Amino acid sequence: MAETHKPARDFTLRLRRYDPESGEAPYWDEHTISLQPHRSVLEAILQARARFDGSIGIRCSCKAAICGSCGVRINGQPGLACHTHLDAAMLTSADGVIEVEPMGNMPVIKDLIVDMDAVHWKKVQRVVPWLLPEGDPPEREYIVPPESMIDITQSMACIHCGACVSACLSMEVDPEFIGPAALAKAYRFVGDPRDAHHEDRLLDLAEDPHGIYDCTHCFACVEVCPKDVAPMNQIMRLRRRATNDYEIKDANAGYGHEKAFVGLIEKYGTLHESQLLPRSYGEGSLIKSQVKPSSLAKLAAGAGTVVNGLKSGKVNPIKAVVHHKLPDQKQVRRIFKEIESKDDRLELNLYIVGEEAEDEDQGAMAEGGRES
Ligand code: SF4
Ligand code: SF4
Ligand code: FES
Repeated sequence: MAETHKPARDFTLRLRRYDPESGEAPYWDEHTISLQPHRSVLEAILQARARFDGSIGIRCSCKAAICGSCGVRINGQPGLACHTHLDAAMLTSADGVIEVEPMGNMPVIKDLIVDMDAVHWKKVQRVVPWLLPEGDPPEREYIVPPESMIDITQSMACIHCGACVSACLSMEVDPEFIGPAALAKAYRFVGDPRDAHHEDRLLDLAEDPHGIYDCTHCFACVEVCPKDVAPMNQIMRLRRRATNDYEIKDANAGYGHEKAFVGLIEKYGTLHESQLLPRSYGEGSLIKSQVKPSSLAKLAAGAGTVVNGLKSGKVNPIKAVVHHKLPDQKQVRRIFKEIESKDDRLELNLYIVGEEAEDEDQGAMAEGGRES
């Protein structure tokens, strides 16, 4: 039977209710509504509000995954209420009830409505979300190569729903972290050839202790984004531009950490953990970390972590020093050589990656990108 012909059935919603102005503690509220299974969680909330309690707070507008206003957590997972079918929500329910609560990492205004201005939009403002061209504007329009625009389409697809902000583990630990949505927005301008301040932008985001190196690479933002923006990937691309294109040696040792990581894998085939920290502070080099006063100071500051690791048994001193190489690490080096022998890697966005594409192939890719 087609989804749209399935009969209506009962679904129970458990809604998190909270009005900070009331002075009362948050509480859970349950309502059973009747809808076809392919209808959305948003429709269910609106039905509960219309039939049982007009004071339920929920923000929405388009009901079509376009405006980004109905972000909530459904059974703990951030997403769009209008883009989540009731039958799909039932699959992740722990007890047969669909639990809906406001998004995380942002203060609650009322019930399911969070203060996007206080966190999300403030962070977007932080990355200077407009073009900074230089010189007089052209008489007509700026001419931009199609592949440059394909490159940034993924970050431009963001509808600012805040789901990634809600899911971000780094932001939970460090509320000052600029965060996935705002950094994806930053890539939108770093990837745009009309902007004349790529290096300044990257330097700013690399030097900020809450910037691009504050992301722990956990993939949570990639999993929850309803528009496939893959914010983490945009952050990794900002890092690659900062380290490879501009050689920005930042105070957060992000540059050194990347060089150390890649260098160790090339040499050993596996990660030599005890060398990772000193090499990271030595811009990828073990020698530099032993002679540079700034590296020595950073290493001394990190000594407490090492001592704690030894005490708790998480760090095994013998394994840390006598590191085993991958039995056939020559294969790893071969892969490195092969990659390094290629011309520049062409990476337009998550979906379009290639190497040494011929002109006509690039043209075809550009066409494909425009169609998608
Ligand atoms: S990958 Fe980075 S930005 Fe994305 S949720 Fe994890 S820590 Fe946050
Ligand atoms: S990146 Fe995705 S999850 Fe984050 S605000 Fe934009 S659309 Fe929403
Ligand atoms: S109501 Fe517009 S995205 Fe859900």
